[in-house]
Amino acid sequence: MTTTPSDRHASLPKPDPAATAHSARLLDRIRSEIAAAGGAISFARFMELALYAPGLGYYRAGARKFGPGGDFVTAPELSPLFSRCLARQCREVLERIGGGTILELGAGTGVMAADILRELRTLNALPERYAILELSGELRERQRQTLAERTPDLLDRVAWLDALPEPGLRGVVLGNEVLDALPVERFRITPTGPRRMEVAWTGTEPATCPQSNLDWTEGADDPALAATVARIESALGWRLPEGYTSECVPQLADWVRAVAEPLAVGALLFVDYGYSRREYYHPERADGTLLCHYRHRVHADPLILPGLQDITASVDFTAVADAARAAGLEMAGYTSQNYFLFGCGLMDLLAEVDAADTVRYLERVRQVKLLTLPGEMGDRFKAIALTRGIDLPLCGFSFRDERGRL
Ligand SMILES: C[S@@+](CC[C@H](N)C(=O)[O-])C[C@H]1O[C@@H](n2cnc3c(N)ncnc32)[C@H](O)[C@@H]1O
Repeated sequence: MTTTPSDRHASLPKPDPAATAHSARLLDRIRSEIAAAGGAISFARFMELALYAPGLGYYRAGARKFGPGGDFVTAPELSPLFSRCLARQCREVLERIGGGTILELGAGTGVMAADILRELRTLNALPERYAILELSGELRERQRQTLAERTPDLLDRVAWLDALPEPGLRGVVLGNEVLDALPVERFRITPTGPRRMEVAWTGTEPATCPQSNLDWTEGADDPALAATVARIESALGWRLPEGYTSECVPQLADWVRAVAEPLAVGALLFVDYGYSRREYYHPERADGTLLCHYRHRVHADPLILPGLQDITASVDFTAVADAARAAGLEMAGYTSQNYFLFGCGLMDLLAEVDAADTVRYLERVRQVKLLTLPGEMGDRFKAIALTRGIDLPLCGFSFRDERGRL
């Protein structure tokens, strides 16, 4: 995801009356949950409601989200070159296992699915089926429209699932910017140990949007959280200092196990922004990694604009690798997005366009830069591959494999 940095609420565009009314309805729902819970709810629960409350959450209601008229842009929306590279990685795995299914988690507008299918058709390597697991009914409809417009003749290969498939899946499971959307727990190190940061209601009158009458509060002593933070510190080999605030994903191990379970043979491939554990909990990153995207502004206050803005946290890829190993998967590769795309043949795709065709060539160069430059998406984003039952060096990690950093 990319947007223009901004910190102040004041600089955020005002939502229109319909959006304000929508946000107020979600806020009512959150407020009753806070009341029922005795005054505060965990941040993970707040994030779940803000993003996924049926009919109200950011991903479950009408917000535009993707593209210039929305809140953020993802790599597949920036350039088809991203999806074409992913398609090449899928082809390699599918060829090795004699064909199979691609399952995409959280498919956004469906543009990545369409571009992957188009590329695989060109390479004569179509999957038997392209399955999509999408939580949002509204996004499913958008994905169907995108695929109907861009690849009408391949629509019959695409299936939308209501749940993860039964065990026995052969193929590739893909997720671009899905891990960063999993609800996180926020904690702070206090003189008496780590405390959960919870979300409380602060007033009786509804505040004016974008404010929301929600505020942070320190939760009671929580042995489960203390154990999680102790495990993180023990793996790091250092204690997090007093005042240090960060996040972890309580459901990560269960989520990875559930996603890995159906896979009999093949690979899981996730691309997202994040770090190894040592970088994630680096002393300098003392206020965590929460980021919110609203109309192409990025800021760090998740308690405003409920239902109208995306809320994300960076991914601890060491935690993903640990969860994957515990689920019986092999770590097959970890690298920055730029090296992953180079390994998949990005520069060959650039060379397809004749440099004498200046307009097309320069446009492709621009897209390559956005995807690969360090200040852009190139090094903030990482790719991780987790496999079962295949012993194959993956092309995406042939340029550089940084598994050792996890
Ligand atoms: C930031 S968007 C990324 C969309 C798309 N992959 C892209 O790159 O444009 C996050 C997506 O993850 C989906 N999502 C979040 N949690 C999910 C889960 N547990 N299972 C499947 N999809 C999920 C959301 O509905 C949304 O489509």
